[in-house]
Amino acid sequence: MSEHVKISSQNGVLEIIFARPEKKNALTNAMYRAAKDALESAQTDKSIRVVLFGAEGGAFTAGNDLGDFSNASKPDGEKPQAGAFINAIARAEKPIIVAVPGISVGVGTTMLLHSDLVYVSDNAKLSAPFVNLALVPEAGSSLLMPARIGYTRAFSLFALGESITGQEAVALGIANKVLPQDEVLPAARAAAQTLAKKPSGSLVATKKLMRDAETILARMQAESTVFAERLKSDEAREAFSAFAERRQPDFSKFNS
Ligand code: COA
Repeated sequence: MSEHVKISSQNGVLEIIFARPEKKNALTNAMYRAAKDALESAQTDKSIRVVLFGAEGGAFTAGNDLGDFSNASKPDGEKPQAGAFINAIARAEKPIIVAVPGISVGVGTTMLLHSDLVYVSDNAKLSAPFVNLALVPEAGSSLLMPARIGYTRAFSLFALGESITGQEAVALGIANKVLPQDEVLPAARAAAQTLAKKPSGSLVATKKLMRDAETILARMQAESTVFAERLKSDEAREAFSAFAERRQPDFSKFNS
């Protein structure tokens, strides 16, 4: 349970809405747990045919809560729950639809690579600045992002911290449609209702055939080992301190 994730269901569609707009919907461990539990129970709940992710306010999510990352970088800090959440997304058999009303950072962008229909706003900015945080790509994105948008674009996203606009996301095949911000969630809901009327067995089988889940999960496992090492690195600690102190990080003192 988390007060910052709203879960509801109607007409065969489970909605998982990130609701921490004052922090740009940055995802805390409690939020990951709530979203993961809802997503997993949807897989066995016969009344649910489609899962929809959305967000309150003008951002989809600012990615992992950096306070939680900072905590995880300490010897006795709680392990980030992002991995378990993404694992549930990667294993999900029922279709996933996402409504992105604006900024989407980190896991907010990489989870789109596991989603089946994506609607983005015309002011959306998708980024995955893992290297800026001295981390590495997660959620299978080291495999899925280059495959989707090409190696050099993916590298500029991860390493330069460049972002992708809503229009570009559609052109690059990350999203289906770009819409004015207030039309994004209604469009996603309409698509969810359409999918909910389709033969569910066929949808599940189609999704399974279209995704090489085992290869994706194996890459996620490899990423997760490196990510955990990076989280505890001096470079990452500097990046998290810099965010908390509202200054630019200085990586010049570390040599690899
Ligand atoms: N973790 C924790 N808090 C976050 C956060 C995050 N990932 N992203 C934003 N916030 C908080 C800010 O600290 C601020 O809190 P405050 O009002 O108490 O000071 C609030 O959310 C609003 O953010 P702000 O930075 O003022 O908004 P902005 O519109 O100027 O910028 C972002 C939005 C998302 C570009 C910017 O907040 C950012 O870069 N966040 C970090 C993103 C990131 O690196 N995520 C991890 C990816 S793996």
